[in-house]
Amino acid sequence: MTAFASDAALSLPADALEQLRTALGSGGLLTEASDMAPFVTDWRNLFHGRACAVARPATAEACAETLRICAEHKIAVVPQGGNTSMVGGATPDESGRALVLVTSRMNRVRAIDPIDQTMTIEAGVTLKAAQDAAKEAGLLLPLSISSEGSAEIGGVLATNAGGNNTVRYGNARELVLGLEVALPDGRKLDLMRRLRKDNTGYALRQIFIGSEGTLGLITAAILQLQPAPRSIEAALCAVESPAAALRLFAAFRSREPSAIQAFEFMSGVSMGLVNTLIPDAKLPLAEPAAAYVLVELASPREGGALRELMEEALGDALENGLVTDAVLAESEAQRGALWKLREEHAEAQKRAGASVKNDVSVPLSAIPEFIERASAACEALIPGVRVAPFGHIGDGNIHFNLVQPEGADGAAFLARDHDIMDAVAGIVRELGGSFSAEHGVGQLKTYMMPEWRGGAELDVMRRIKTAIDPQGLMNPGKVLPAL
Ligand code: MLT
Ligand code: ZN
Repeated sequence: MTAFASDAALSLPADALEQLRTALGSGGLLTEASDMAPFVTDWRNLFHGRACAVARPATAEACAETLRICAEHKIAVVPQGGNTSMVGGATPDESGRALVLVTSRMNRVRAIDPIDQTMTIEAGVTLKAAQDAAKEAGLLLPLSISSEGSAEIGGVLATNAGGNNTVRYGNARELVLGLEVALPDGRKLDLMRRLRKDNTGYALRQIFIGSEGTLGLITAAILQLQPAPRSIEAALCAVESPAAALRLFAAFRSREPSAIQAFEFMSGVSMGLVNTLIPDAKLPLAEPAAAYVLVELASPREGGALRELMEEALGDALENGLVTDAVLAESEAQRGALWKLREEHAEAQKRAGASVKNDVSVPLSAIPEFIERASAACEALIPGVRVAPFGHIGDGNIHFNLVQPEGADGAAFLARDHDIMDAVAGIVRELGGSFSAEHGVGQLKTYMMPEWRGGAELDVMRRIKTAIDPQGLMNPGKVLPAL
């Protein structure tokens, strides 16, 4: 055991350690530094914390008991699902006093009801496994994000994930009918009612969804599913500008808004990184373009109507110059290849060096102005910076990501992250947007909360926090800035 590990173990009182071992069983508690290492650093490698232990309960009861023991001994708890947070939301601080509570072993799909079209699912099931289970039952879980292979349902709900299908089905919170939560005092809050209508007091589940683990730990949920699509059409379009991409969205929306399953924007710079840095991801268009759109239409109806709709819309767009080139997927494999170009954006940017992410939203009408002004501001701030915006243009959420200049020092670039974020945020604010559309606040953006959400809004948030977690043990340092 290294000195680091014995430090960690020492910060857990012996009786707490004993109680946790009994509650979690063998394999349910990690205290060796080497075993804990994967759980104390974030996916982006921005935050490096320490923990006194990592708890891996296999049941909701063991999870609640872990929280009860932690409350008794005043041990802070950092909930963690697939550890895919973009904002350090699941990484402990450096004190080594917090316990990381990992949900991965609570991984059962408890039930799927084909009449209610619901899925009752535990927190540790990956989003991909949940989608697959719905598909096997002939249904659709209409939530899709780039990290779905690793991201787990608990984290997805705790962060109110958005992603590619928000344009049609809303964010994660819109899909949740029921929720099961382990409260900070160890009680189980059972809100597992699969009702479309239930006006009996406050909608408590919505307080926990999007709270980033600061109020309790989501152990299970009941999700509303949709009929599986029987026809899907996807096309990749080259466009001249964000304004053209937006006009194309409006053109599809005016024809058949309910058919649009995804409408994703990719700048030429960000697509260029995917094309060069991701093997097997190759642009199927003759010439590189200033920007691209991936549009997907889906319907539970069989037949050629969707294909007709896509061809008509693209035909018009090509004719009037809105789209300069386009390719339509002719098979599932081709559709997968088009989506790979989109889904590998975050990975490609990671491979290109250090990057600063601005996960912002603005009203749809303001997107072109936002991209233009923010690009100019960042280029003036850091000459040579690679401005690589992409994302969910159909719902107003742009990932305005900046990749370090080629060959520059990554650490020096990251040292300017607040300058970059503030320059972008200033423009977002003027345009009536949000500084975090779907990634949450985590620990990366708590400093922005007083200015953006100060006054009564932050005060009410703090009161809710104190009421539910009076000892301040749940995910400290996340969402709410220190007083
Ligand atoms: C995505 O939509 O791919 C992510 O939210 C990515 C990111 O900001 O890198
Ligand atoms: Zn996204």
